[in-house]
Amino acid sequence: MSDLPFSFTIPIPHVIPSRVDNHIKRTLSALKGQFLDEATYNKMLNQEDSLIYEVYEIKRPEVEGELLMGISIVHPGKVGNEFFMTKGHFHSVLDTSEIYYTLKGEGYMVMETPEGETSVEPLSPGKVLYVPPRWAHRSVCTSRQEDLVTFFAYPANAGHDYGTIEKTGFRKLVVEGENGPEIIDNPRVK
Ligand code: F6R
Ligand code: ZN
Repeated sequence: MSDLPFSFTIPIPHVIPSRVDNHIKRTLSALKGQFLDEATYNKMLNQEDSLIYEVYEIKRPEVEGELLMGISIVHPGKVGNEFFMTKGHFHSVLDTSEIYYTLKGEGYMVMETPEGETSVEPLSPGKVLYVPPRWAHRSVCTSRQEDLVTFFAYPANAGHDYGTIEKTGFRKLVVEGENGPEIIDNPRVK
C-alpha cells in the first residue's frame, strides 16, 4: 500500500466514493437477536434475507497512526416498529474514537459506555458527530424512503468488538411512535 498522500471524492447525491477497496453488505440475518420483535424478524427473514446496510471502505494498514475512512449506508425500513440499523460495536481498542459526518437521510446514533451511560444523537445532513473513546455506537435510519448515509473516520488500529453488544443489545432502541421516531429503553437489558 502506497504511503503517498491521496484524495478521493464522495459525489452528491450518488455518494459512492470514487475509491473503494472493500464493499461490505449486511443483510437481515446478520442482525439476529437484535430486533425486539423476534416473531416479525423471523417472518421477514423467511421471506427474504433483505439488505439492511452497506459499507464502502478505503483500506489503510491497521496500525496506530493511520485512519480508516469510508461511507456507511443504512437503508430505510423497519422490523415491526423498530427502524433498520447497523449491528453496532465497541472498538476492541476501547480508547479509540470516531467521527461521523452525515451526508444524506435522517436517523440517530445510539451510543453507550461499558458502565451503562447512554446517548442518542439525531443525525441529519451536515451534522458532524463525535463518538468519544469507550462509546459503543450503532446508526439507525429513520427516513421513510431515503438511505442514511454517513462518512466515518477512526483510528486504523481500533478493531471491532461486536460480541459484547450481541449478548443483550443496546440499552436504547429507536422505534416508530405515534408522532414519529421514539427512543425507548430496551426491556432485554436489565
Ligand atoms: C467503524 C464504524 C463504521 C461501522 C459501519 C457499520 O468503526 O463504526 O464504519 O463499521 O457503520 O456498522 P457495524 O460495523 O456496526 O456493522
Ligand atoms: Zn466504530
